[in-house]
Amino acid sequence: MPFDLTEEQKALEARVRRLATERIAPRAAAIDRTEAYPWENVAVLRETGLLGYTIPKEYGGAGGNFLDAAVIVEELARACGVTGRIAVETNMGAISAVMCHGTEDQKRLAAGLVLAGDKPAICITEPAAGSAANEMTTRADRHGGRWVINGRKHWITGGGTSRLYLVFARAFAEDGRELGIAGFLARAGETGLVVGRREPTMGLRGIPETEILFENLEITDAMALRHADGRLVGFADLMNAYNSQRVGAAAVALGIAAGAFDLALDFARERKQFGRPIGEFQGLQWKLADMAIGLEAARLMVRRAAALAAPFPDPLLAAEAKVLAAETAIRVTNEALQIFGARGYSRDFPLERMARDARMFTIGGGTAEILRTVIASRLLGWKLPQRRAKARADAS
Ligand code: FAD
Ligand code: COA
Repeated sequence: MPFDLTEEQKALEARVRRLATERIAPRAAAIDRTEAYPWENVAVLRETGLLGYTIPKEYGGAGGNFLDAAVIVEELARACGVTGRIAVETNMGAISAVMCHGTEDQKRLAAGLVLAGDKPAICITEPAAGSAANEMTTRADRHGGRWVINGRKHWITGGGTSRLYLVFARAFAEDGRELGIAGFLARAGETGLVVGRREPTMGLRGIPETEILFENLEITDAMALRHADGRLVGFADLMNAYNSQRVGAAAVALGIAAGAFDLALDFARERKQFGRPIGEFQGLQWKLADMAIGLEAARLMVRRAAALAAPFPDPLLAAEAKVLAAETAIRVTNEALQIFGARGYSRDFPLERMARDARMFTIGGGTAEILRTVIASRLLGWKLPQRRAKARADAS
């Protein structure tokens, strides 16, 4: 199978598992409690070469592939979901879009920032354009050879801590003609890029989710993503690159669930009731078996989607992997919590944090409902427009 791990990948997996156990896990509870961005963990990832692992060697990275990244992310997320997410966004998603579609200068800028510890942010969602992302109203107007960006995004992971923002905006030419949705790079600290309200999230509390307001943000044309022939990189290509982030999110969900499963397995061996380890009760044995089946299936789907990337994961495989991993993670973390009994419900133990962290993955990055629509569209071989007016127009 193309998604079997090579000897190097098995060694990478073992190395990251050790690192995560020794240096990442001990800080996970404090990150959740304080809601502080884990800069110490970023330093660990940087020092051990795990930031920008997929960045090509000529730009200073390790030249790894998405399967390497999925392995790294799963192992880090076993210990700390927040750190797993940082590994996603420094190896997949926005950074991969720039390394594929960017100019030489854009690649050097993005790679340099990531290798120095930045987790780039991706700005798609708006208050009135969530699942219907392509109804966004943030606009980039060409003006005197520059772009002026105005609009409001929300739920931007890393708002305020990220140095680089990949902004999806509706582009307009100097003469007012609409050019479609395109991708622009903006840097933190520029006048006109304003970090707004931080969301009080249920889980994954160590990364800020914020509004990002664009108030006449001016960027040079050199910050617009363009194909070699000069065309702006449009929505479909940006979403195609985004499939890597969906696989990354699936790997985080898988990792969190695998971490919870390991704890539940140990607990089932050690905790005694009725004079026997609770793992001797068939009611729990079958729970553990179902949890293991779900995890193994999710791992195969995540690795398949990552391994078959060309250059990005296929939209169908990415959607299937994310739905399965996210729903498995919710189930497995809740079952693990149940196996811990009252301890599972206590903030003195990590299970309640893991269950809260896992809950996100059927929402962020494309909801499970939207991803099922993506899957159905491929199965049926039909476009499935969700807007009433568009559906009517297409039908006539
Ligand atoms: P809505 O689109 O309003 O959906 C509400 C409900 O309706 C959902 O259950 C949805 O599945 C359902 N629904 C909507 N349309 C359909 C349909 N056609 N068929 C069936 N069901 C439908 N966005 C970014 O741009 N950048 C980020 O970094 C980012 N990070 C995030 C991090 C977190 C922790 C979270 C929770 C979200 C993040 N998001 C980010 C936003 C995320 O992508 C959106 O929340 C998601 O796309 C859904 O949009 P919405 O919340 O507006 O829900
Ligand atoms: N991979 C590759 N291409 C994709 C894609 C993906 N994941 N999602 C959309 N596209 C392409 C389509 O193929 C289509 O290309 P075409 O114009 O060349 O035919 C184009 O983008 C528009 O997509 P379509 O599915 O026709 O649009 P829609 O109006 O039905 O909108 C989406 C649906 C794309 C907005 C919706 O499926 C979606 O993904 N919503 C979630 C947004 C999200 O993930 N946000 C995360 C923010 S972090």
